[in-house]
Amino acid sequence: MSRDRKAQNKLDELVQTGKDLKAFEKDPEGRSLLKCYHYGVLDAFVVGRIHQRVERALQERKNLGNPFLPPELHRGNFVLGLDRRQQWLWTFMQVLNAHTLIVAGTGAGKTTLSKFHAIQIAPHVRGMWLVDLRKREYRALRPVFARLGIDLKIIRGRKFCINPLQVPMGVEPIEYAATAADLLVSVLNLPPRASTLLRTTIIKLYRANGVLAGGRRFPTMFCLFEAIRSDRSANAQARQAALDQLEAILTALGPDILGYHCGWDPHELARQHLAMELTGLPESGKDLVLGYLLTAEFMSRIARGLSNPRMDLWIAFDEAQRLLSQRQETAGYGGNALIDLLGLVRGTGVGLQISVLSTHDLSPNVPNLTGTKIFGRCGSVGEYTTVGRYMGLTSEQIAWCAHHMVPGLFVGQMADGNWRYPFVFRVPPLTPLPTGDPIDTPTDDGNVSAAVPRLPSVEWVIGRLEHGTTPDNGK
Ligand SMILES: Nc1ncnc2c1ncn2[C@@H]1O[C@H](COP(=O)(O)OP(=O)(O)OP(=O)(O)O)[C@@H](O)[C@H]1O
Ligand SMILES: [Mg+2]
Repeated sequence: MSRDRKAQNKLDELVQTGKDLKAFEKDPEGRSLLKCYHYGVLDAFVVGRIHQRVERALQERKNLGNPFLPPELHRGNFVLGLDRRQQWLWTFMQVLNAHTLIVAGTGAGKTTLSKFHAIQIAPHVRGMWLVDLRKREYRALRPVFARLGIDLKIIRGRKFCINPLQVPMGVEPIEYAATAADLLVSVLNLPPRASTLLRTTIIKLYRANGVLAGGRRFPTMFCLFEAIRSDRSANAQARQAALDQLEAILTALGPDILGYHCGWDPHELARQHLAMELTGLPESGKDLVLGYLLTAEFMSRIARGLSNPRMDLWIAFDEAQRLLSQRQETAGYGGNALIDLLGLVRGTGVGLQISVLSTHDLSPNVPNLTGTKIFGRCGSVGEYTTVGRYMGLTSEQIAWCAHHMVPGLFVGQMADGNWRYPFVFRVPPLTPLPTGDPIDTPTDDGNVSAAVPRLPSVEWVIGRLEHGTTPDNGK
């Protein structure tokens, strides 16, 4: 190879390094140097200036102490955290519309990060659902929100009053019957045949209750159970599977949660700031409550013709590991209702933030469907490699993470905006928040929804009496 060719190759490499380090784009001289390079104007002055710039950029990166580019996130209405120079990193809240995934091991600061973001977002959205799936951590934000003039209502798992067969606002009952049947098939892991049985039974119940004619006395899940039980002509396998699973969930959640012809309206909940503590509910119960609330709100938004509006509902799931399990998604006949919804709720003004402990058993659809990705200290190099792959980290960056991550330090990549490279940021430690109300005090706000008739389901009571058991009709 001739000397000229070698020099040209070296220069190409240098320019590429400079481009990667953003050494040329920031000022007119840099941009002119790039132009000269592209047009082959390579006199001693131009080549000398290119050398100087790239060497300075390399030195700056060395001084920075990490192999990540310093992010240029200087504009926006939302602070992600702090950079190495203790400068705020800004982005636009609207970017969160494309969902966020947080992966970090235990004690790495996931909940602190989520709270830090929640406090900023709260005044800008109409509704916020902070979903605690394993602990009771978001309740500590109640006094902070109160200072912002926002009433954060705390709902414990057993205080929910919902009816998954309640047709969401603006949606056609016939259309909703199919969705509700699919949701139940997925949540209760029923065979596909049960979907038809559930759909036809729900439509029959809607007709009998006048729902198809616009009535608001929706059949309950207990009515559905009874209707399937008395339908001897139904396919025996589908019927038995549906009865077994329905009985299990009805017994676990009981009429206190599901015994309402007209339960809380998800559309109304979407206008409130709520800390939902699902700890203590069985896993299928969590799936049912969240699946219903999200599906109903999503369908209602679609029916109202919302498309790419401003984000007005932000939902954070803390410790969502099991909810988004790959095993559950592939083993179940109907897939995983929540993962399906993840792809659908984008563009309807709902921003989701999902935090998980590890990528083990995490459905591969989750990183595919979340635009912004953040990870913190993880337990192993394997884990850093997996999350690093989600963001396209180099092996040098992954090795740096394995040696340097501490609680409160994160690597992020934004879904949108002018800076799409991964970057390191630190979340300021929050002043210790009060631990929240003791569990026994009635923090559950009875006024979450104005009109919630607390009726135990008559059909359920009758059904239980027929089986010779005492009805647990609560209050
Ligand atoms: N931004 C931060 N700066 C400094 N320390 C932090 C920060 N965030 C968290 N920590 C430390 O880490 C501890 C755990 O934080 P946090 O509860 O947010 O972690 P987590 O990832 O949610 O843990 P878990 O998996 O157990 O729920 C805190 O008590 C605090 O000592
Ligand atoms: Mg936590």
